[in-house]
Amino acid sequence: MATTISIHDIAAYEGQEVTVRGWVYDRTDKGKLQFIMVRDGSGIVQVVAYGPELPEEMYAAASKLTQESSVIVTGTVKSNPKAKKSLPEGFEIGLKDLQVVQMVEDYPITPKEHGTEFLMDNRHLWVRSSRQWAILRIRATIERELRNYLDDRGFLLVDTPILTPAAGENTTTLFQIDYFGEPAFLAQTGQLYNEANMAAFGKVYCFGPTFRAEKSKTRRHLMEFWMLEPEIAHCSLEDLMALEEQLIAHVVEVVLKKHRDELALIERDISKLEAIKLPFARISYDEAVAHLQKLYAETDDPEQKALLKIEWGEDFGSPHETAIAEMFDRPVFVYHYPTAVKAFYMQPVEGRPEVCRSVDLLAPEGYGEITGGSERIFDAALLEERVASIGLPREAYAWYLDLRRYGSVPHAGFGLGLERTVAWLCGLSHVRETIPYARMLNRNYP
Ligand code: 4AD
Ligand code: MG
Repeated sequence: MATTISIHDIAAYEGQEVTVRGWVYDRTDKGKLQFIMVRDGSGIVQVVAYGPELPEEMYAAASKLTQESSVIVTGTVKSNPKAKKSLPEGFEIGLKDLQVVQMVEDYPITPKEHGTEFLMDNRHLWVRSSRQWAILRIRATIERELRNYLDDRGFLLVDTPILTPAAGENTTTLFQIDYFGEPAFLAQTGQLYNEANMAAFGKVYCFGPTFRAEKSKTRRHLMEFWMLEPEIAHCSLEDLMALEEQLIAHVVEVVLKKHRDELALIERDISKLEAIKLPFARISYDEAVAHLQKLYAETDDPEQKALLKIEWGEDFGSPHETAIAEMFDRPVFVYHYPTAVKAFYMQPVEGRPEVCRSVDLLAPEGYGEITGGSERIFDAALLEERVASIGLPREAYAWYLDLRRYGSVPHAGFGLGLERTVAWLCGLSHVRETIPYARMLNRNYP
């Protein structure tokens, strides 16, 4: 009996007879040879069927294999530097036995070019394509390394609820549901619960799906996205930035180390990622606005002018974020935004309450905001005032206000958008390919 292996581990089996259980990715022939690319989810291997050495029936079956037919193949592993389409590269299997589990007819996704909408309609099949496979593997590593980094530094993963009685962020982007006759909402953030958990465990994080009913149809917006949210007691904005940059530098390093093959497959220019060095850049909102206004004054192009126009007090749009990011060769923190454009819980700057202790991290190459965070208001009276002034119902926030009455401490936290991070590290033009099944304005199928 040959050993059943994962293609990923094939190098360890050179010269041995192995079995691979997978699906046909592609097939070509040349004279008495069939080249069958078989993928098993862990990699791809070229399986070579040589007519004269195989029973006639088996060779005939091999020559009829169609894309995505499920197969079990057995044969001897050989190194072959010409097997460039194998992944890992340089190995092939000389076919000895073939079992066809299912022959497929008319697989809808062929190697020819398909439109994005067609591919998104067939996402349940598209995830098998090598490019999507590579992206989703990198996503899994990013998720794991975000967790590993925090787990190794004394943070506790504490899960937060998805069904919530109150808004965590902007009340205009809530998905409302019927909770046995009472309104409830899908969580926009785990933060408020993180703050309760922070007082129980010191350093915590949650990492789950979050929901925003945002009527935006941009390359950065999903209705359902995954957010990593750390929350730390006695943490300043400066401490927060230091944690964020080290966390992200760690993730970039591991992705570069572990995923050379996947990054090559998706044709990511890795020199851009290799150039990322600590510390990241830091710029205040005031300085960023001044820079944008200078660019505005210097350009004669009316289109550019329209994109760059900004008054102090306005939030940034993506062209503003891109222009700010272009000032640096690494990610940049923008801190001290106007209080009016940020969430109700952010701590005002001492002596200058019109700006708050907030910080967004902008990724290079036009990827825009990937994290948003702040110091939190820890004074009970001020938080009461903010809840009231924003028109939030006090009853729904009674538990949150309790946190400021019983052992309140200065604290801070941030949220990192997983899909935007994956889009940046993989160099993708849209977040729809960064998540297995994207939920967008015009799509919740499949
Ligand atoms: O800036 P946001 O809204 O911050 C919060 O929700 C805070 N409560 C987080 C915290 O301090 N614990 O969202 C954080 C990040 C953004 O920087 C972005 O990367 C991502 O979440 N994000 C989205 N990603 C995809 N689609 C959307 N609609 C997103 N909205 C936010
Ligand atoms: Mg934000």
